[in-house]
Amino acid sequence: MNKPVAGFSKLSKEEKINWIAKEYFSTPSEAIALLKNYWNTDEKIQKLHDEFIENTITNFYIPLGVAPNFLINGKYSTIPMAIEESSVVAAASKSANYWSTRGGFKATVINTEKIGQVHFLYKGDLSKLQLFFAQNKAKFFSDTESITKNMQKRGGGILDIVLQDKTDLLPNYYQLHATFETKDSMGANFINSCLEQFAKTLKEESQHYALFSESEKEITVIMSILSNYVPNCTVRAEVSCPVNELAEKHILDPQDFAERFVQAVQIAEVEPFRAVTHNKGIMNGVDAVVLATGNDFRAVEAGIHAYAAKSGQYSSLSHATIENGIFTFWLEIPLALGTVGGLTTLHPLVKLSLEMLKNPSAKELMEVVAVAGLAQNFAALRSLTTTGIQDGHMKMHLNNILNQFGANEDERILIRKHFKHNTVSHSAVADYINNLRK
Ligand code: MEV
Repeated sequence: MNKPVAGFSKLSKEEKINWIAKEYFSTPSEAIALLKNYWNTDEKIQKLHDEFIENTITNFYIPLGVAPNFLINGKYSTIPMAIEESSVVAAASKSANYWSTRGGFKATVINTEKIGQVHFLYKGDLSKLQLFFAQNKAKFFSDTESITKNMQKRGGGILDIVLQDKTDLLPNYYQLHATFETKDSMGANFINSCLEQFAKTLKEESQHYALFSESEKEITVIMSILSNYVPNCTVRAEVSCPVNELAEKHILDPQDFAERFVQAVQIAEVEPFRAVTHNKGIMNGVDAVVLATGNDFRAVEAGIHAYAAKSGQYSSLSHATIENGIFTFWLEIPLALGTVGGLTTLHPLVKLSLEMLKNPSAKELMEVVAVAGLAQNFAALRSLTTTGIQDGHMKMHLNNILNQFGANEDERILIRKHFKHNTVSHSAVADYINNLRK
C-alpha cells in the first residue's frame, strides 16, 4: 500500500519527482526520465509553467494547431486551436474553406453582462431587509470604489445590485445578485473582490441598522462568488446562402442535403441524447480556441451547457432553417472571455495565439470562438448527414494507430496508400501491419 506524504508541497520539484517515482513506479528511473524529458530546455519558460500551479512535476503537451481561411464579418482570420482530438482542426479548416466562398461567417455579440452573488441567510421580516437594502445600496457601490476605479476607467464596473428573496427555494435564503461589465477581462477576480466587499458591507451595516431586531442583525453570509452562468453575455454566429449554392463534391443534391441537415439539427433540438453529442461537437471548436487563448474552458463549458438547458430541457445550441430558398445555420452561446489579465500575457503561446488573432478585444474573441463552434458543428453535421463520420474521423485517427504500432516510414507509405480506399479500423490496420511484417 502507498504511504501518505506530509508537507509534499514544500518539497523541491526534484524531491517531489523522486518520491512519486519511488512510490508508484516499478522502474523509477524511467518515470523520472520521462517526466524530465517533457521539461522545457529554456529554464525561464519552465519556471513560468512550474509556477502556474502547485506541485508541477512536468508539462502535459496538447497540440496547438491552426485553422486558416476563416472569413468572419468580412475579414480573414487564422484560428489557433489547442486540442488533442485528431479530426477537429481538419474539420474546422474544411468548414472555413467551404464558407469562405459562400459569404463567410457573420458573428455578433448580443450582450456582455457578467453576474456574481452574495448568498446569505436572514431570519426576519422581509420588508425590513428590503428597506435596509434600499437605504444602503449606494454604500455597496461606494465601499467598492477602490476596487472598481480602474475598471471604471476602462468603461466597466458594477452595473447593478439587487436583493433577491430565495426563501421559496431554501428557508431564510437571500442573495445580493450583482451584474457587472468587465470589458476585455473575464473579470473573475474583479467580480469576486467586489462581492467579498459587498458581503463585508452587508455584515457591517446590518449590525447598526436601527430597524433590525437583535436576531435580524445576525445575517449569515454563506459565500460570495461569481456565476459562470452568463445568459446575458452571449454571441451569435451564423452562416447563410441560397440552397443551390451548398453544392460541392459530397453535396450533389443541395436541396436534399439542406433538408437532411435541418432535420439533423431539429433532432438535436428535441432529443437530449442527441443534443449532448451535437453540442459536444460545438464544444470541440469552442474549447480548442478558449484553451489556446488562455481562457477558462471549465467556466465556458459549465455556462454553455446550463444555457443549453435553459428551457428546462437540454437542447441544441445551434439551429437551422430553409426559408425562401435560403439555408441559414446559426448558434447562440454565452461566453465570458478575457483578452487581458489571467494567462493572456503570461503564457507565451497564449500571447502568440492572441497576436495571431490580431490581439482581439473580448468581444472579438467571443465572435471567433462562436464561429469556431459553428464551423465544427457544420463539419460534423455535413459528414453525419452525407458520408458518415467514421470515414474522415478514422482517416485522421490513422496516424495515432500507426504510432501505436510503431510503424516505420516504409510501412506508413504502404498503409496510407491502402487505406485511402479502404475502411480504417483499429483491427483492419493491425491485420494489415501484421501481414506486412510477416
Ligand atoms: C466528435 O468529437 C463530435 C461529433 O460526435 C459531433 C456530432 O455528433 O455532432 C462528431
